[in-house]
Amino acid sequence: MSFLDQLAELRARATAALAESVHDLPSLQAWERQFLGGRGELTALLRGIGSVPAEERPEAGREANALKRELTAHYEAREAELATADLAQRLESDAVDVTLPGRRSPLGTVHPVWKMIDEVSQIFALMGFETVFGPEVEIGRYNFDLLNIPSDHPARDVWDTIIVESDREEIVLRTHTSPMQARIMEQREPPVRVIVPGRTYRYEAQDASHEWMFTQIEGLAVDENIKMTDLKGVLQEMARQLFGPNRRIRFRCDFFPFVEPGVDFAVDCAICDGKGCRVCKQTGWLEMGGAGMVHPRVLQGVGYDPERYTGFAFGLGVERLVMMKYGVNDLRAFAGNDLRFLRQFAAATI
Ligand code: FA5
Repeated sequence: MSFLDQLAELRARATAALAESVHDLPSLQAWERQFLGGRGELTALLRGIGSVPAEERPEAGREANALKRELTAHYEAREAELATADLAQRLESDAVDVTLPGRRSPLGTVHPVWKMIDEVSQIFALMGFETVFGPEVEIGRYNFDLLNIPSDHPARDVWDTIIVESDREEIVLRTHTSPMQARIMEQREPPVRVIVPGRTYRYEAQDASHEWMFTQIEGLAVDENIKMTDLKGVLQEMARQLFGPNRRIRFRCDFFPFVEPGVDFAVDCAICDGKGCRVCKQTGWLEMGGAGMVHPRVLQGVGYDPERYTGFAFGLGVERLVMMKYGVNDLRAFAGNDLRFLRQFAAATI
């Protein structure tokens, strides 16, 4: 077959193949490799041009170049066509229907216990108390010893403690926020005025008013001339701001080794105005926590002079505050993760 015939045959095959087997960009690339590429059929044919008789060679060269231009033009046209089709197809499949209504993402909200902590912190901030935080995993020295509860003291059994490590040093999950009293006093000189919100843990059976993990807010004020009446005034003001202008508070004697005298304190029930209801168990009073004047031995233990300084301390149960304010009757609801319960507080400005 002459060189020109071979070119004609190649033209016919390449054109047919382009029409029949090229339907997307990868098959077009394969076509280009087969006919036009460096190892393609046209290149191979051109390599053999030397064996064409000399008088036919110029024409053979011209024709071969013409075929190359022709096939290249086919290739480029088809490539543009396929690229446009590909883009159109992608645009269609990626299309966003902007008229569809959007999907609402679920919005979280602050937990009622932490809303209460924020509110109590603000009330105390206006009375000059700074909010500080402390470790939940605590050493026995702070949880007990510096609070006048030595290891052989029966009061150490008052709280059912969750022990983390007992071999070298006693490490516990703090049973109350009171260990921060000693930590803060060790770090600072009087006057001290802090509140300490945070989680506390006790190995306790759960019921409607007890959890094994709950939240407290500790309060501590130490200075010259701090008196029991200061404690009363501060707690009265907190109750007034938290539960309304007419709330009364009640102190009754109680024992905590780290205060002297010690009291438990209650607020008259805001739900029934002290008349007696389900929430206050018909007593008219709701207990909020323990309090008292800081024991001189606690002051001594952190290096304060008890002859010069006095102070008061208190510890509130935060879940109980929320229960009182909203008439929640089961404390287990706070850690229960039932969204129907939690959503009720989402809009409330506690
Ligand atoms: C204490 O924890 C003392 N540290 C409080 C204190 C601080 C006294 C400073 C004096 C000076 P008590 O064990 O009573 O005290 O707990 C205080 C409050 O925490 C309780 O009134 C209650 O509101 C809350 N509370 C105690 N145990 C639980 C529990 N298991 N579940 C939920 N709340 C609890």
